[in-house]
Amino acid sequence: MATVDLSEYGEGFTADPYPYYAKLRESGPVHHVRTSLGAEVWLIVGHAEARAALADPRLSKSSSTAGYRMLDEAVIGPYLLVLDPPDHTRLRGLVAREFTGRRVQALRPRVQALTDQLLDAMAPAGHADLVDALAFPLPITVICELLGVPAADRDTFRAWSREIVAPRRADEENAAVHALGDYLDELIEDKRCAGPTDDLLSGLLHTRLEDGDRLSAAELRAMAYLLLVAGHETTVNLIANGVRALLAHPDQLAALRADFGLLDGAVEEMLRFDGPVETGTARFAREPVPVGDTVIPQGATVLVGLGAGDRDPDRFPDPDRFDIRRDTAGHLAFGHGIHYCLGAPLARLEGRIAIRALLERFPSLTLDPSAGPLDWLPGLLMRGVRRLPVRW
Ligand code: HEM
Repeated sequence: MATVDLSEYGEGFTADPYPYYAKLRESGPVHHVRTSLGAEVWLIVGHAEARAALADPRLSKSSSTAGYRMLDEAVIGPYLLVLDPPDHTRLRGLVAREFTGRRVQALRPRVQALTDQLLDAMAPAGHADLVDALAFPLPITVICELLGVPAADRDTFRAWSREIVAPRRADEENAAVHALGDYLDELIEDKRCAGPTDDLLSGLLHTRLEDGDRLSAAELRAMAYLLLVAGHETTVNLIANGVRALLAHPDQLAALRADFGLLDGAVEEMLRFDGPVETGTARFAREPVPVGDTVIPQGATVLVGLGAGDRDPDRFPDPDRFDIRRDTAGHLAFGHGIHYCLGAPLARLEGRIAIRALLERFPSLTLDPSAGPLDWLPGLLMRGVRRLPVRW
């Protein structure tokens, strides 16, 4: 099979990858591609094949399967997305109870209050960068409060986190991973000295102290790393991509404004239509794995196209139509299988509250026509814009 060089697609692919995925899907559900950073991987673009791959134990999450170790795992430690059972099962069990629907619903008043504060601050100007004003500060504040990360550290933290999920250059990514690792070591040390508090990180730290073999220092650092990075980079893009889709489809926007009973379905459609995570995190073939008529060789790296799968016409008829009333069951925006997003209930809560409150507060909200072209996040992992200028 010929290798497809994604860098040849240029800026058009970063701005709107879906037509390219559609074209690839026409000739098969999986393709051997070269990414813009030069990595050679197998990219799955069909929905059924993507869903199957996400739950396939022959595709390991551990890069040692492919004979190397991923940068952040080597520097920070083993986190859920680079682990297979039984280690994954054990670590996920330690945090899963914090993120159940019931626990997350208890955060509703706080998420609403934070959203209202952010909208109050935005209102007088008549225009804003929606990423800076709402989509970023809401999820970062929620996850930092949950974990017990000081508010003053958030901006520094964000620059590293952005470099890690959407790296521009390998050396910058490397520096960011190291800086974040050092930061987390200090944070954990401070918490250790301060004694137990009621945040999640302190809870995990003291669980470890009471029962020595449950969570190693590296595992604790890695859990904090994953929750912080996964806990905000993604939800930023749910809010920003979702608002962008609504503003680009005035009929759907009007339908939602007329009946907020459609809100939950609308957020699911935002996740399907232009979800925050374009491809899942890397998987590695333990053995040759057939997908369609192709066999992915042992040791190969596999990226599962979540955005591509969610535009597969075999699963979602007329997939490029943004339709807030459609049946979105089975969309892949939060993944599938044992690595299914732990934070999905929290992300949904934040997305629903933010989008409803924004529309209610600003009945004349539009994209800012004078803002110029959108600045898209590079790479295959994240799908979103750096800034979203809006007016009302
Ligand atoms: C709209 C927002 C979000 C989206 C679209 C999203 C998407 C995803 C996806 C696709 C995966 C699986 C990746 C894979 O299998 O390769 C995942 C895993 C994960 N997500 Fe999210 N996520 C979101 C928000 C959050 C939030 C708010 C948190 C934390 C509080 C979070 C924590 C996690 C964790 C810990 C995992 C790893 C689970 C495991 O490996 O068992 N996510 N997420």
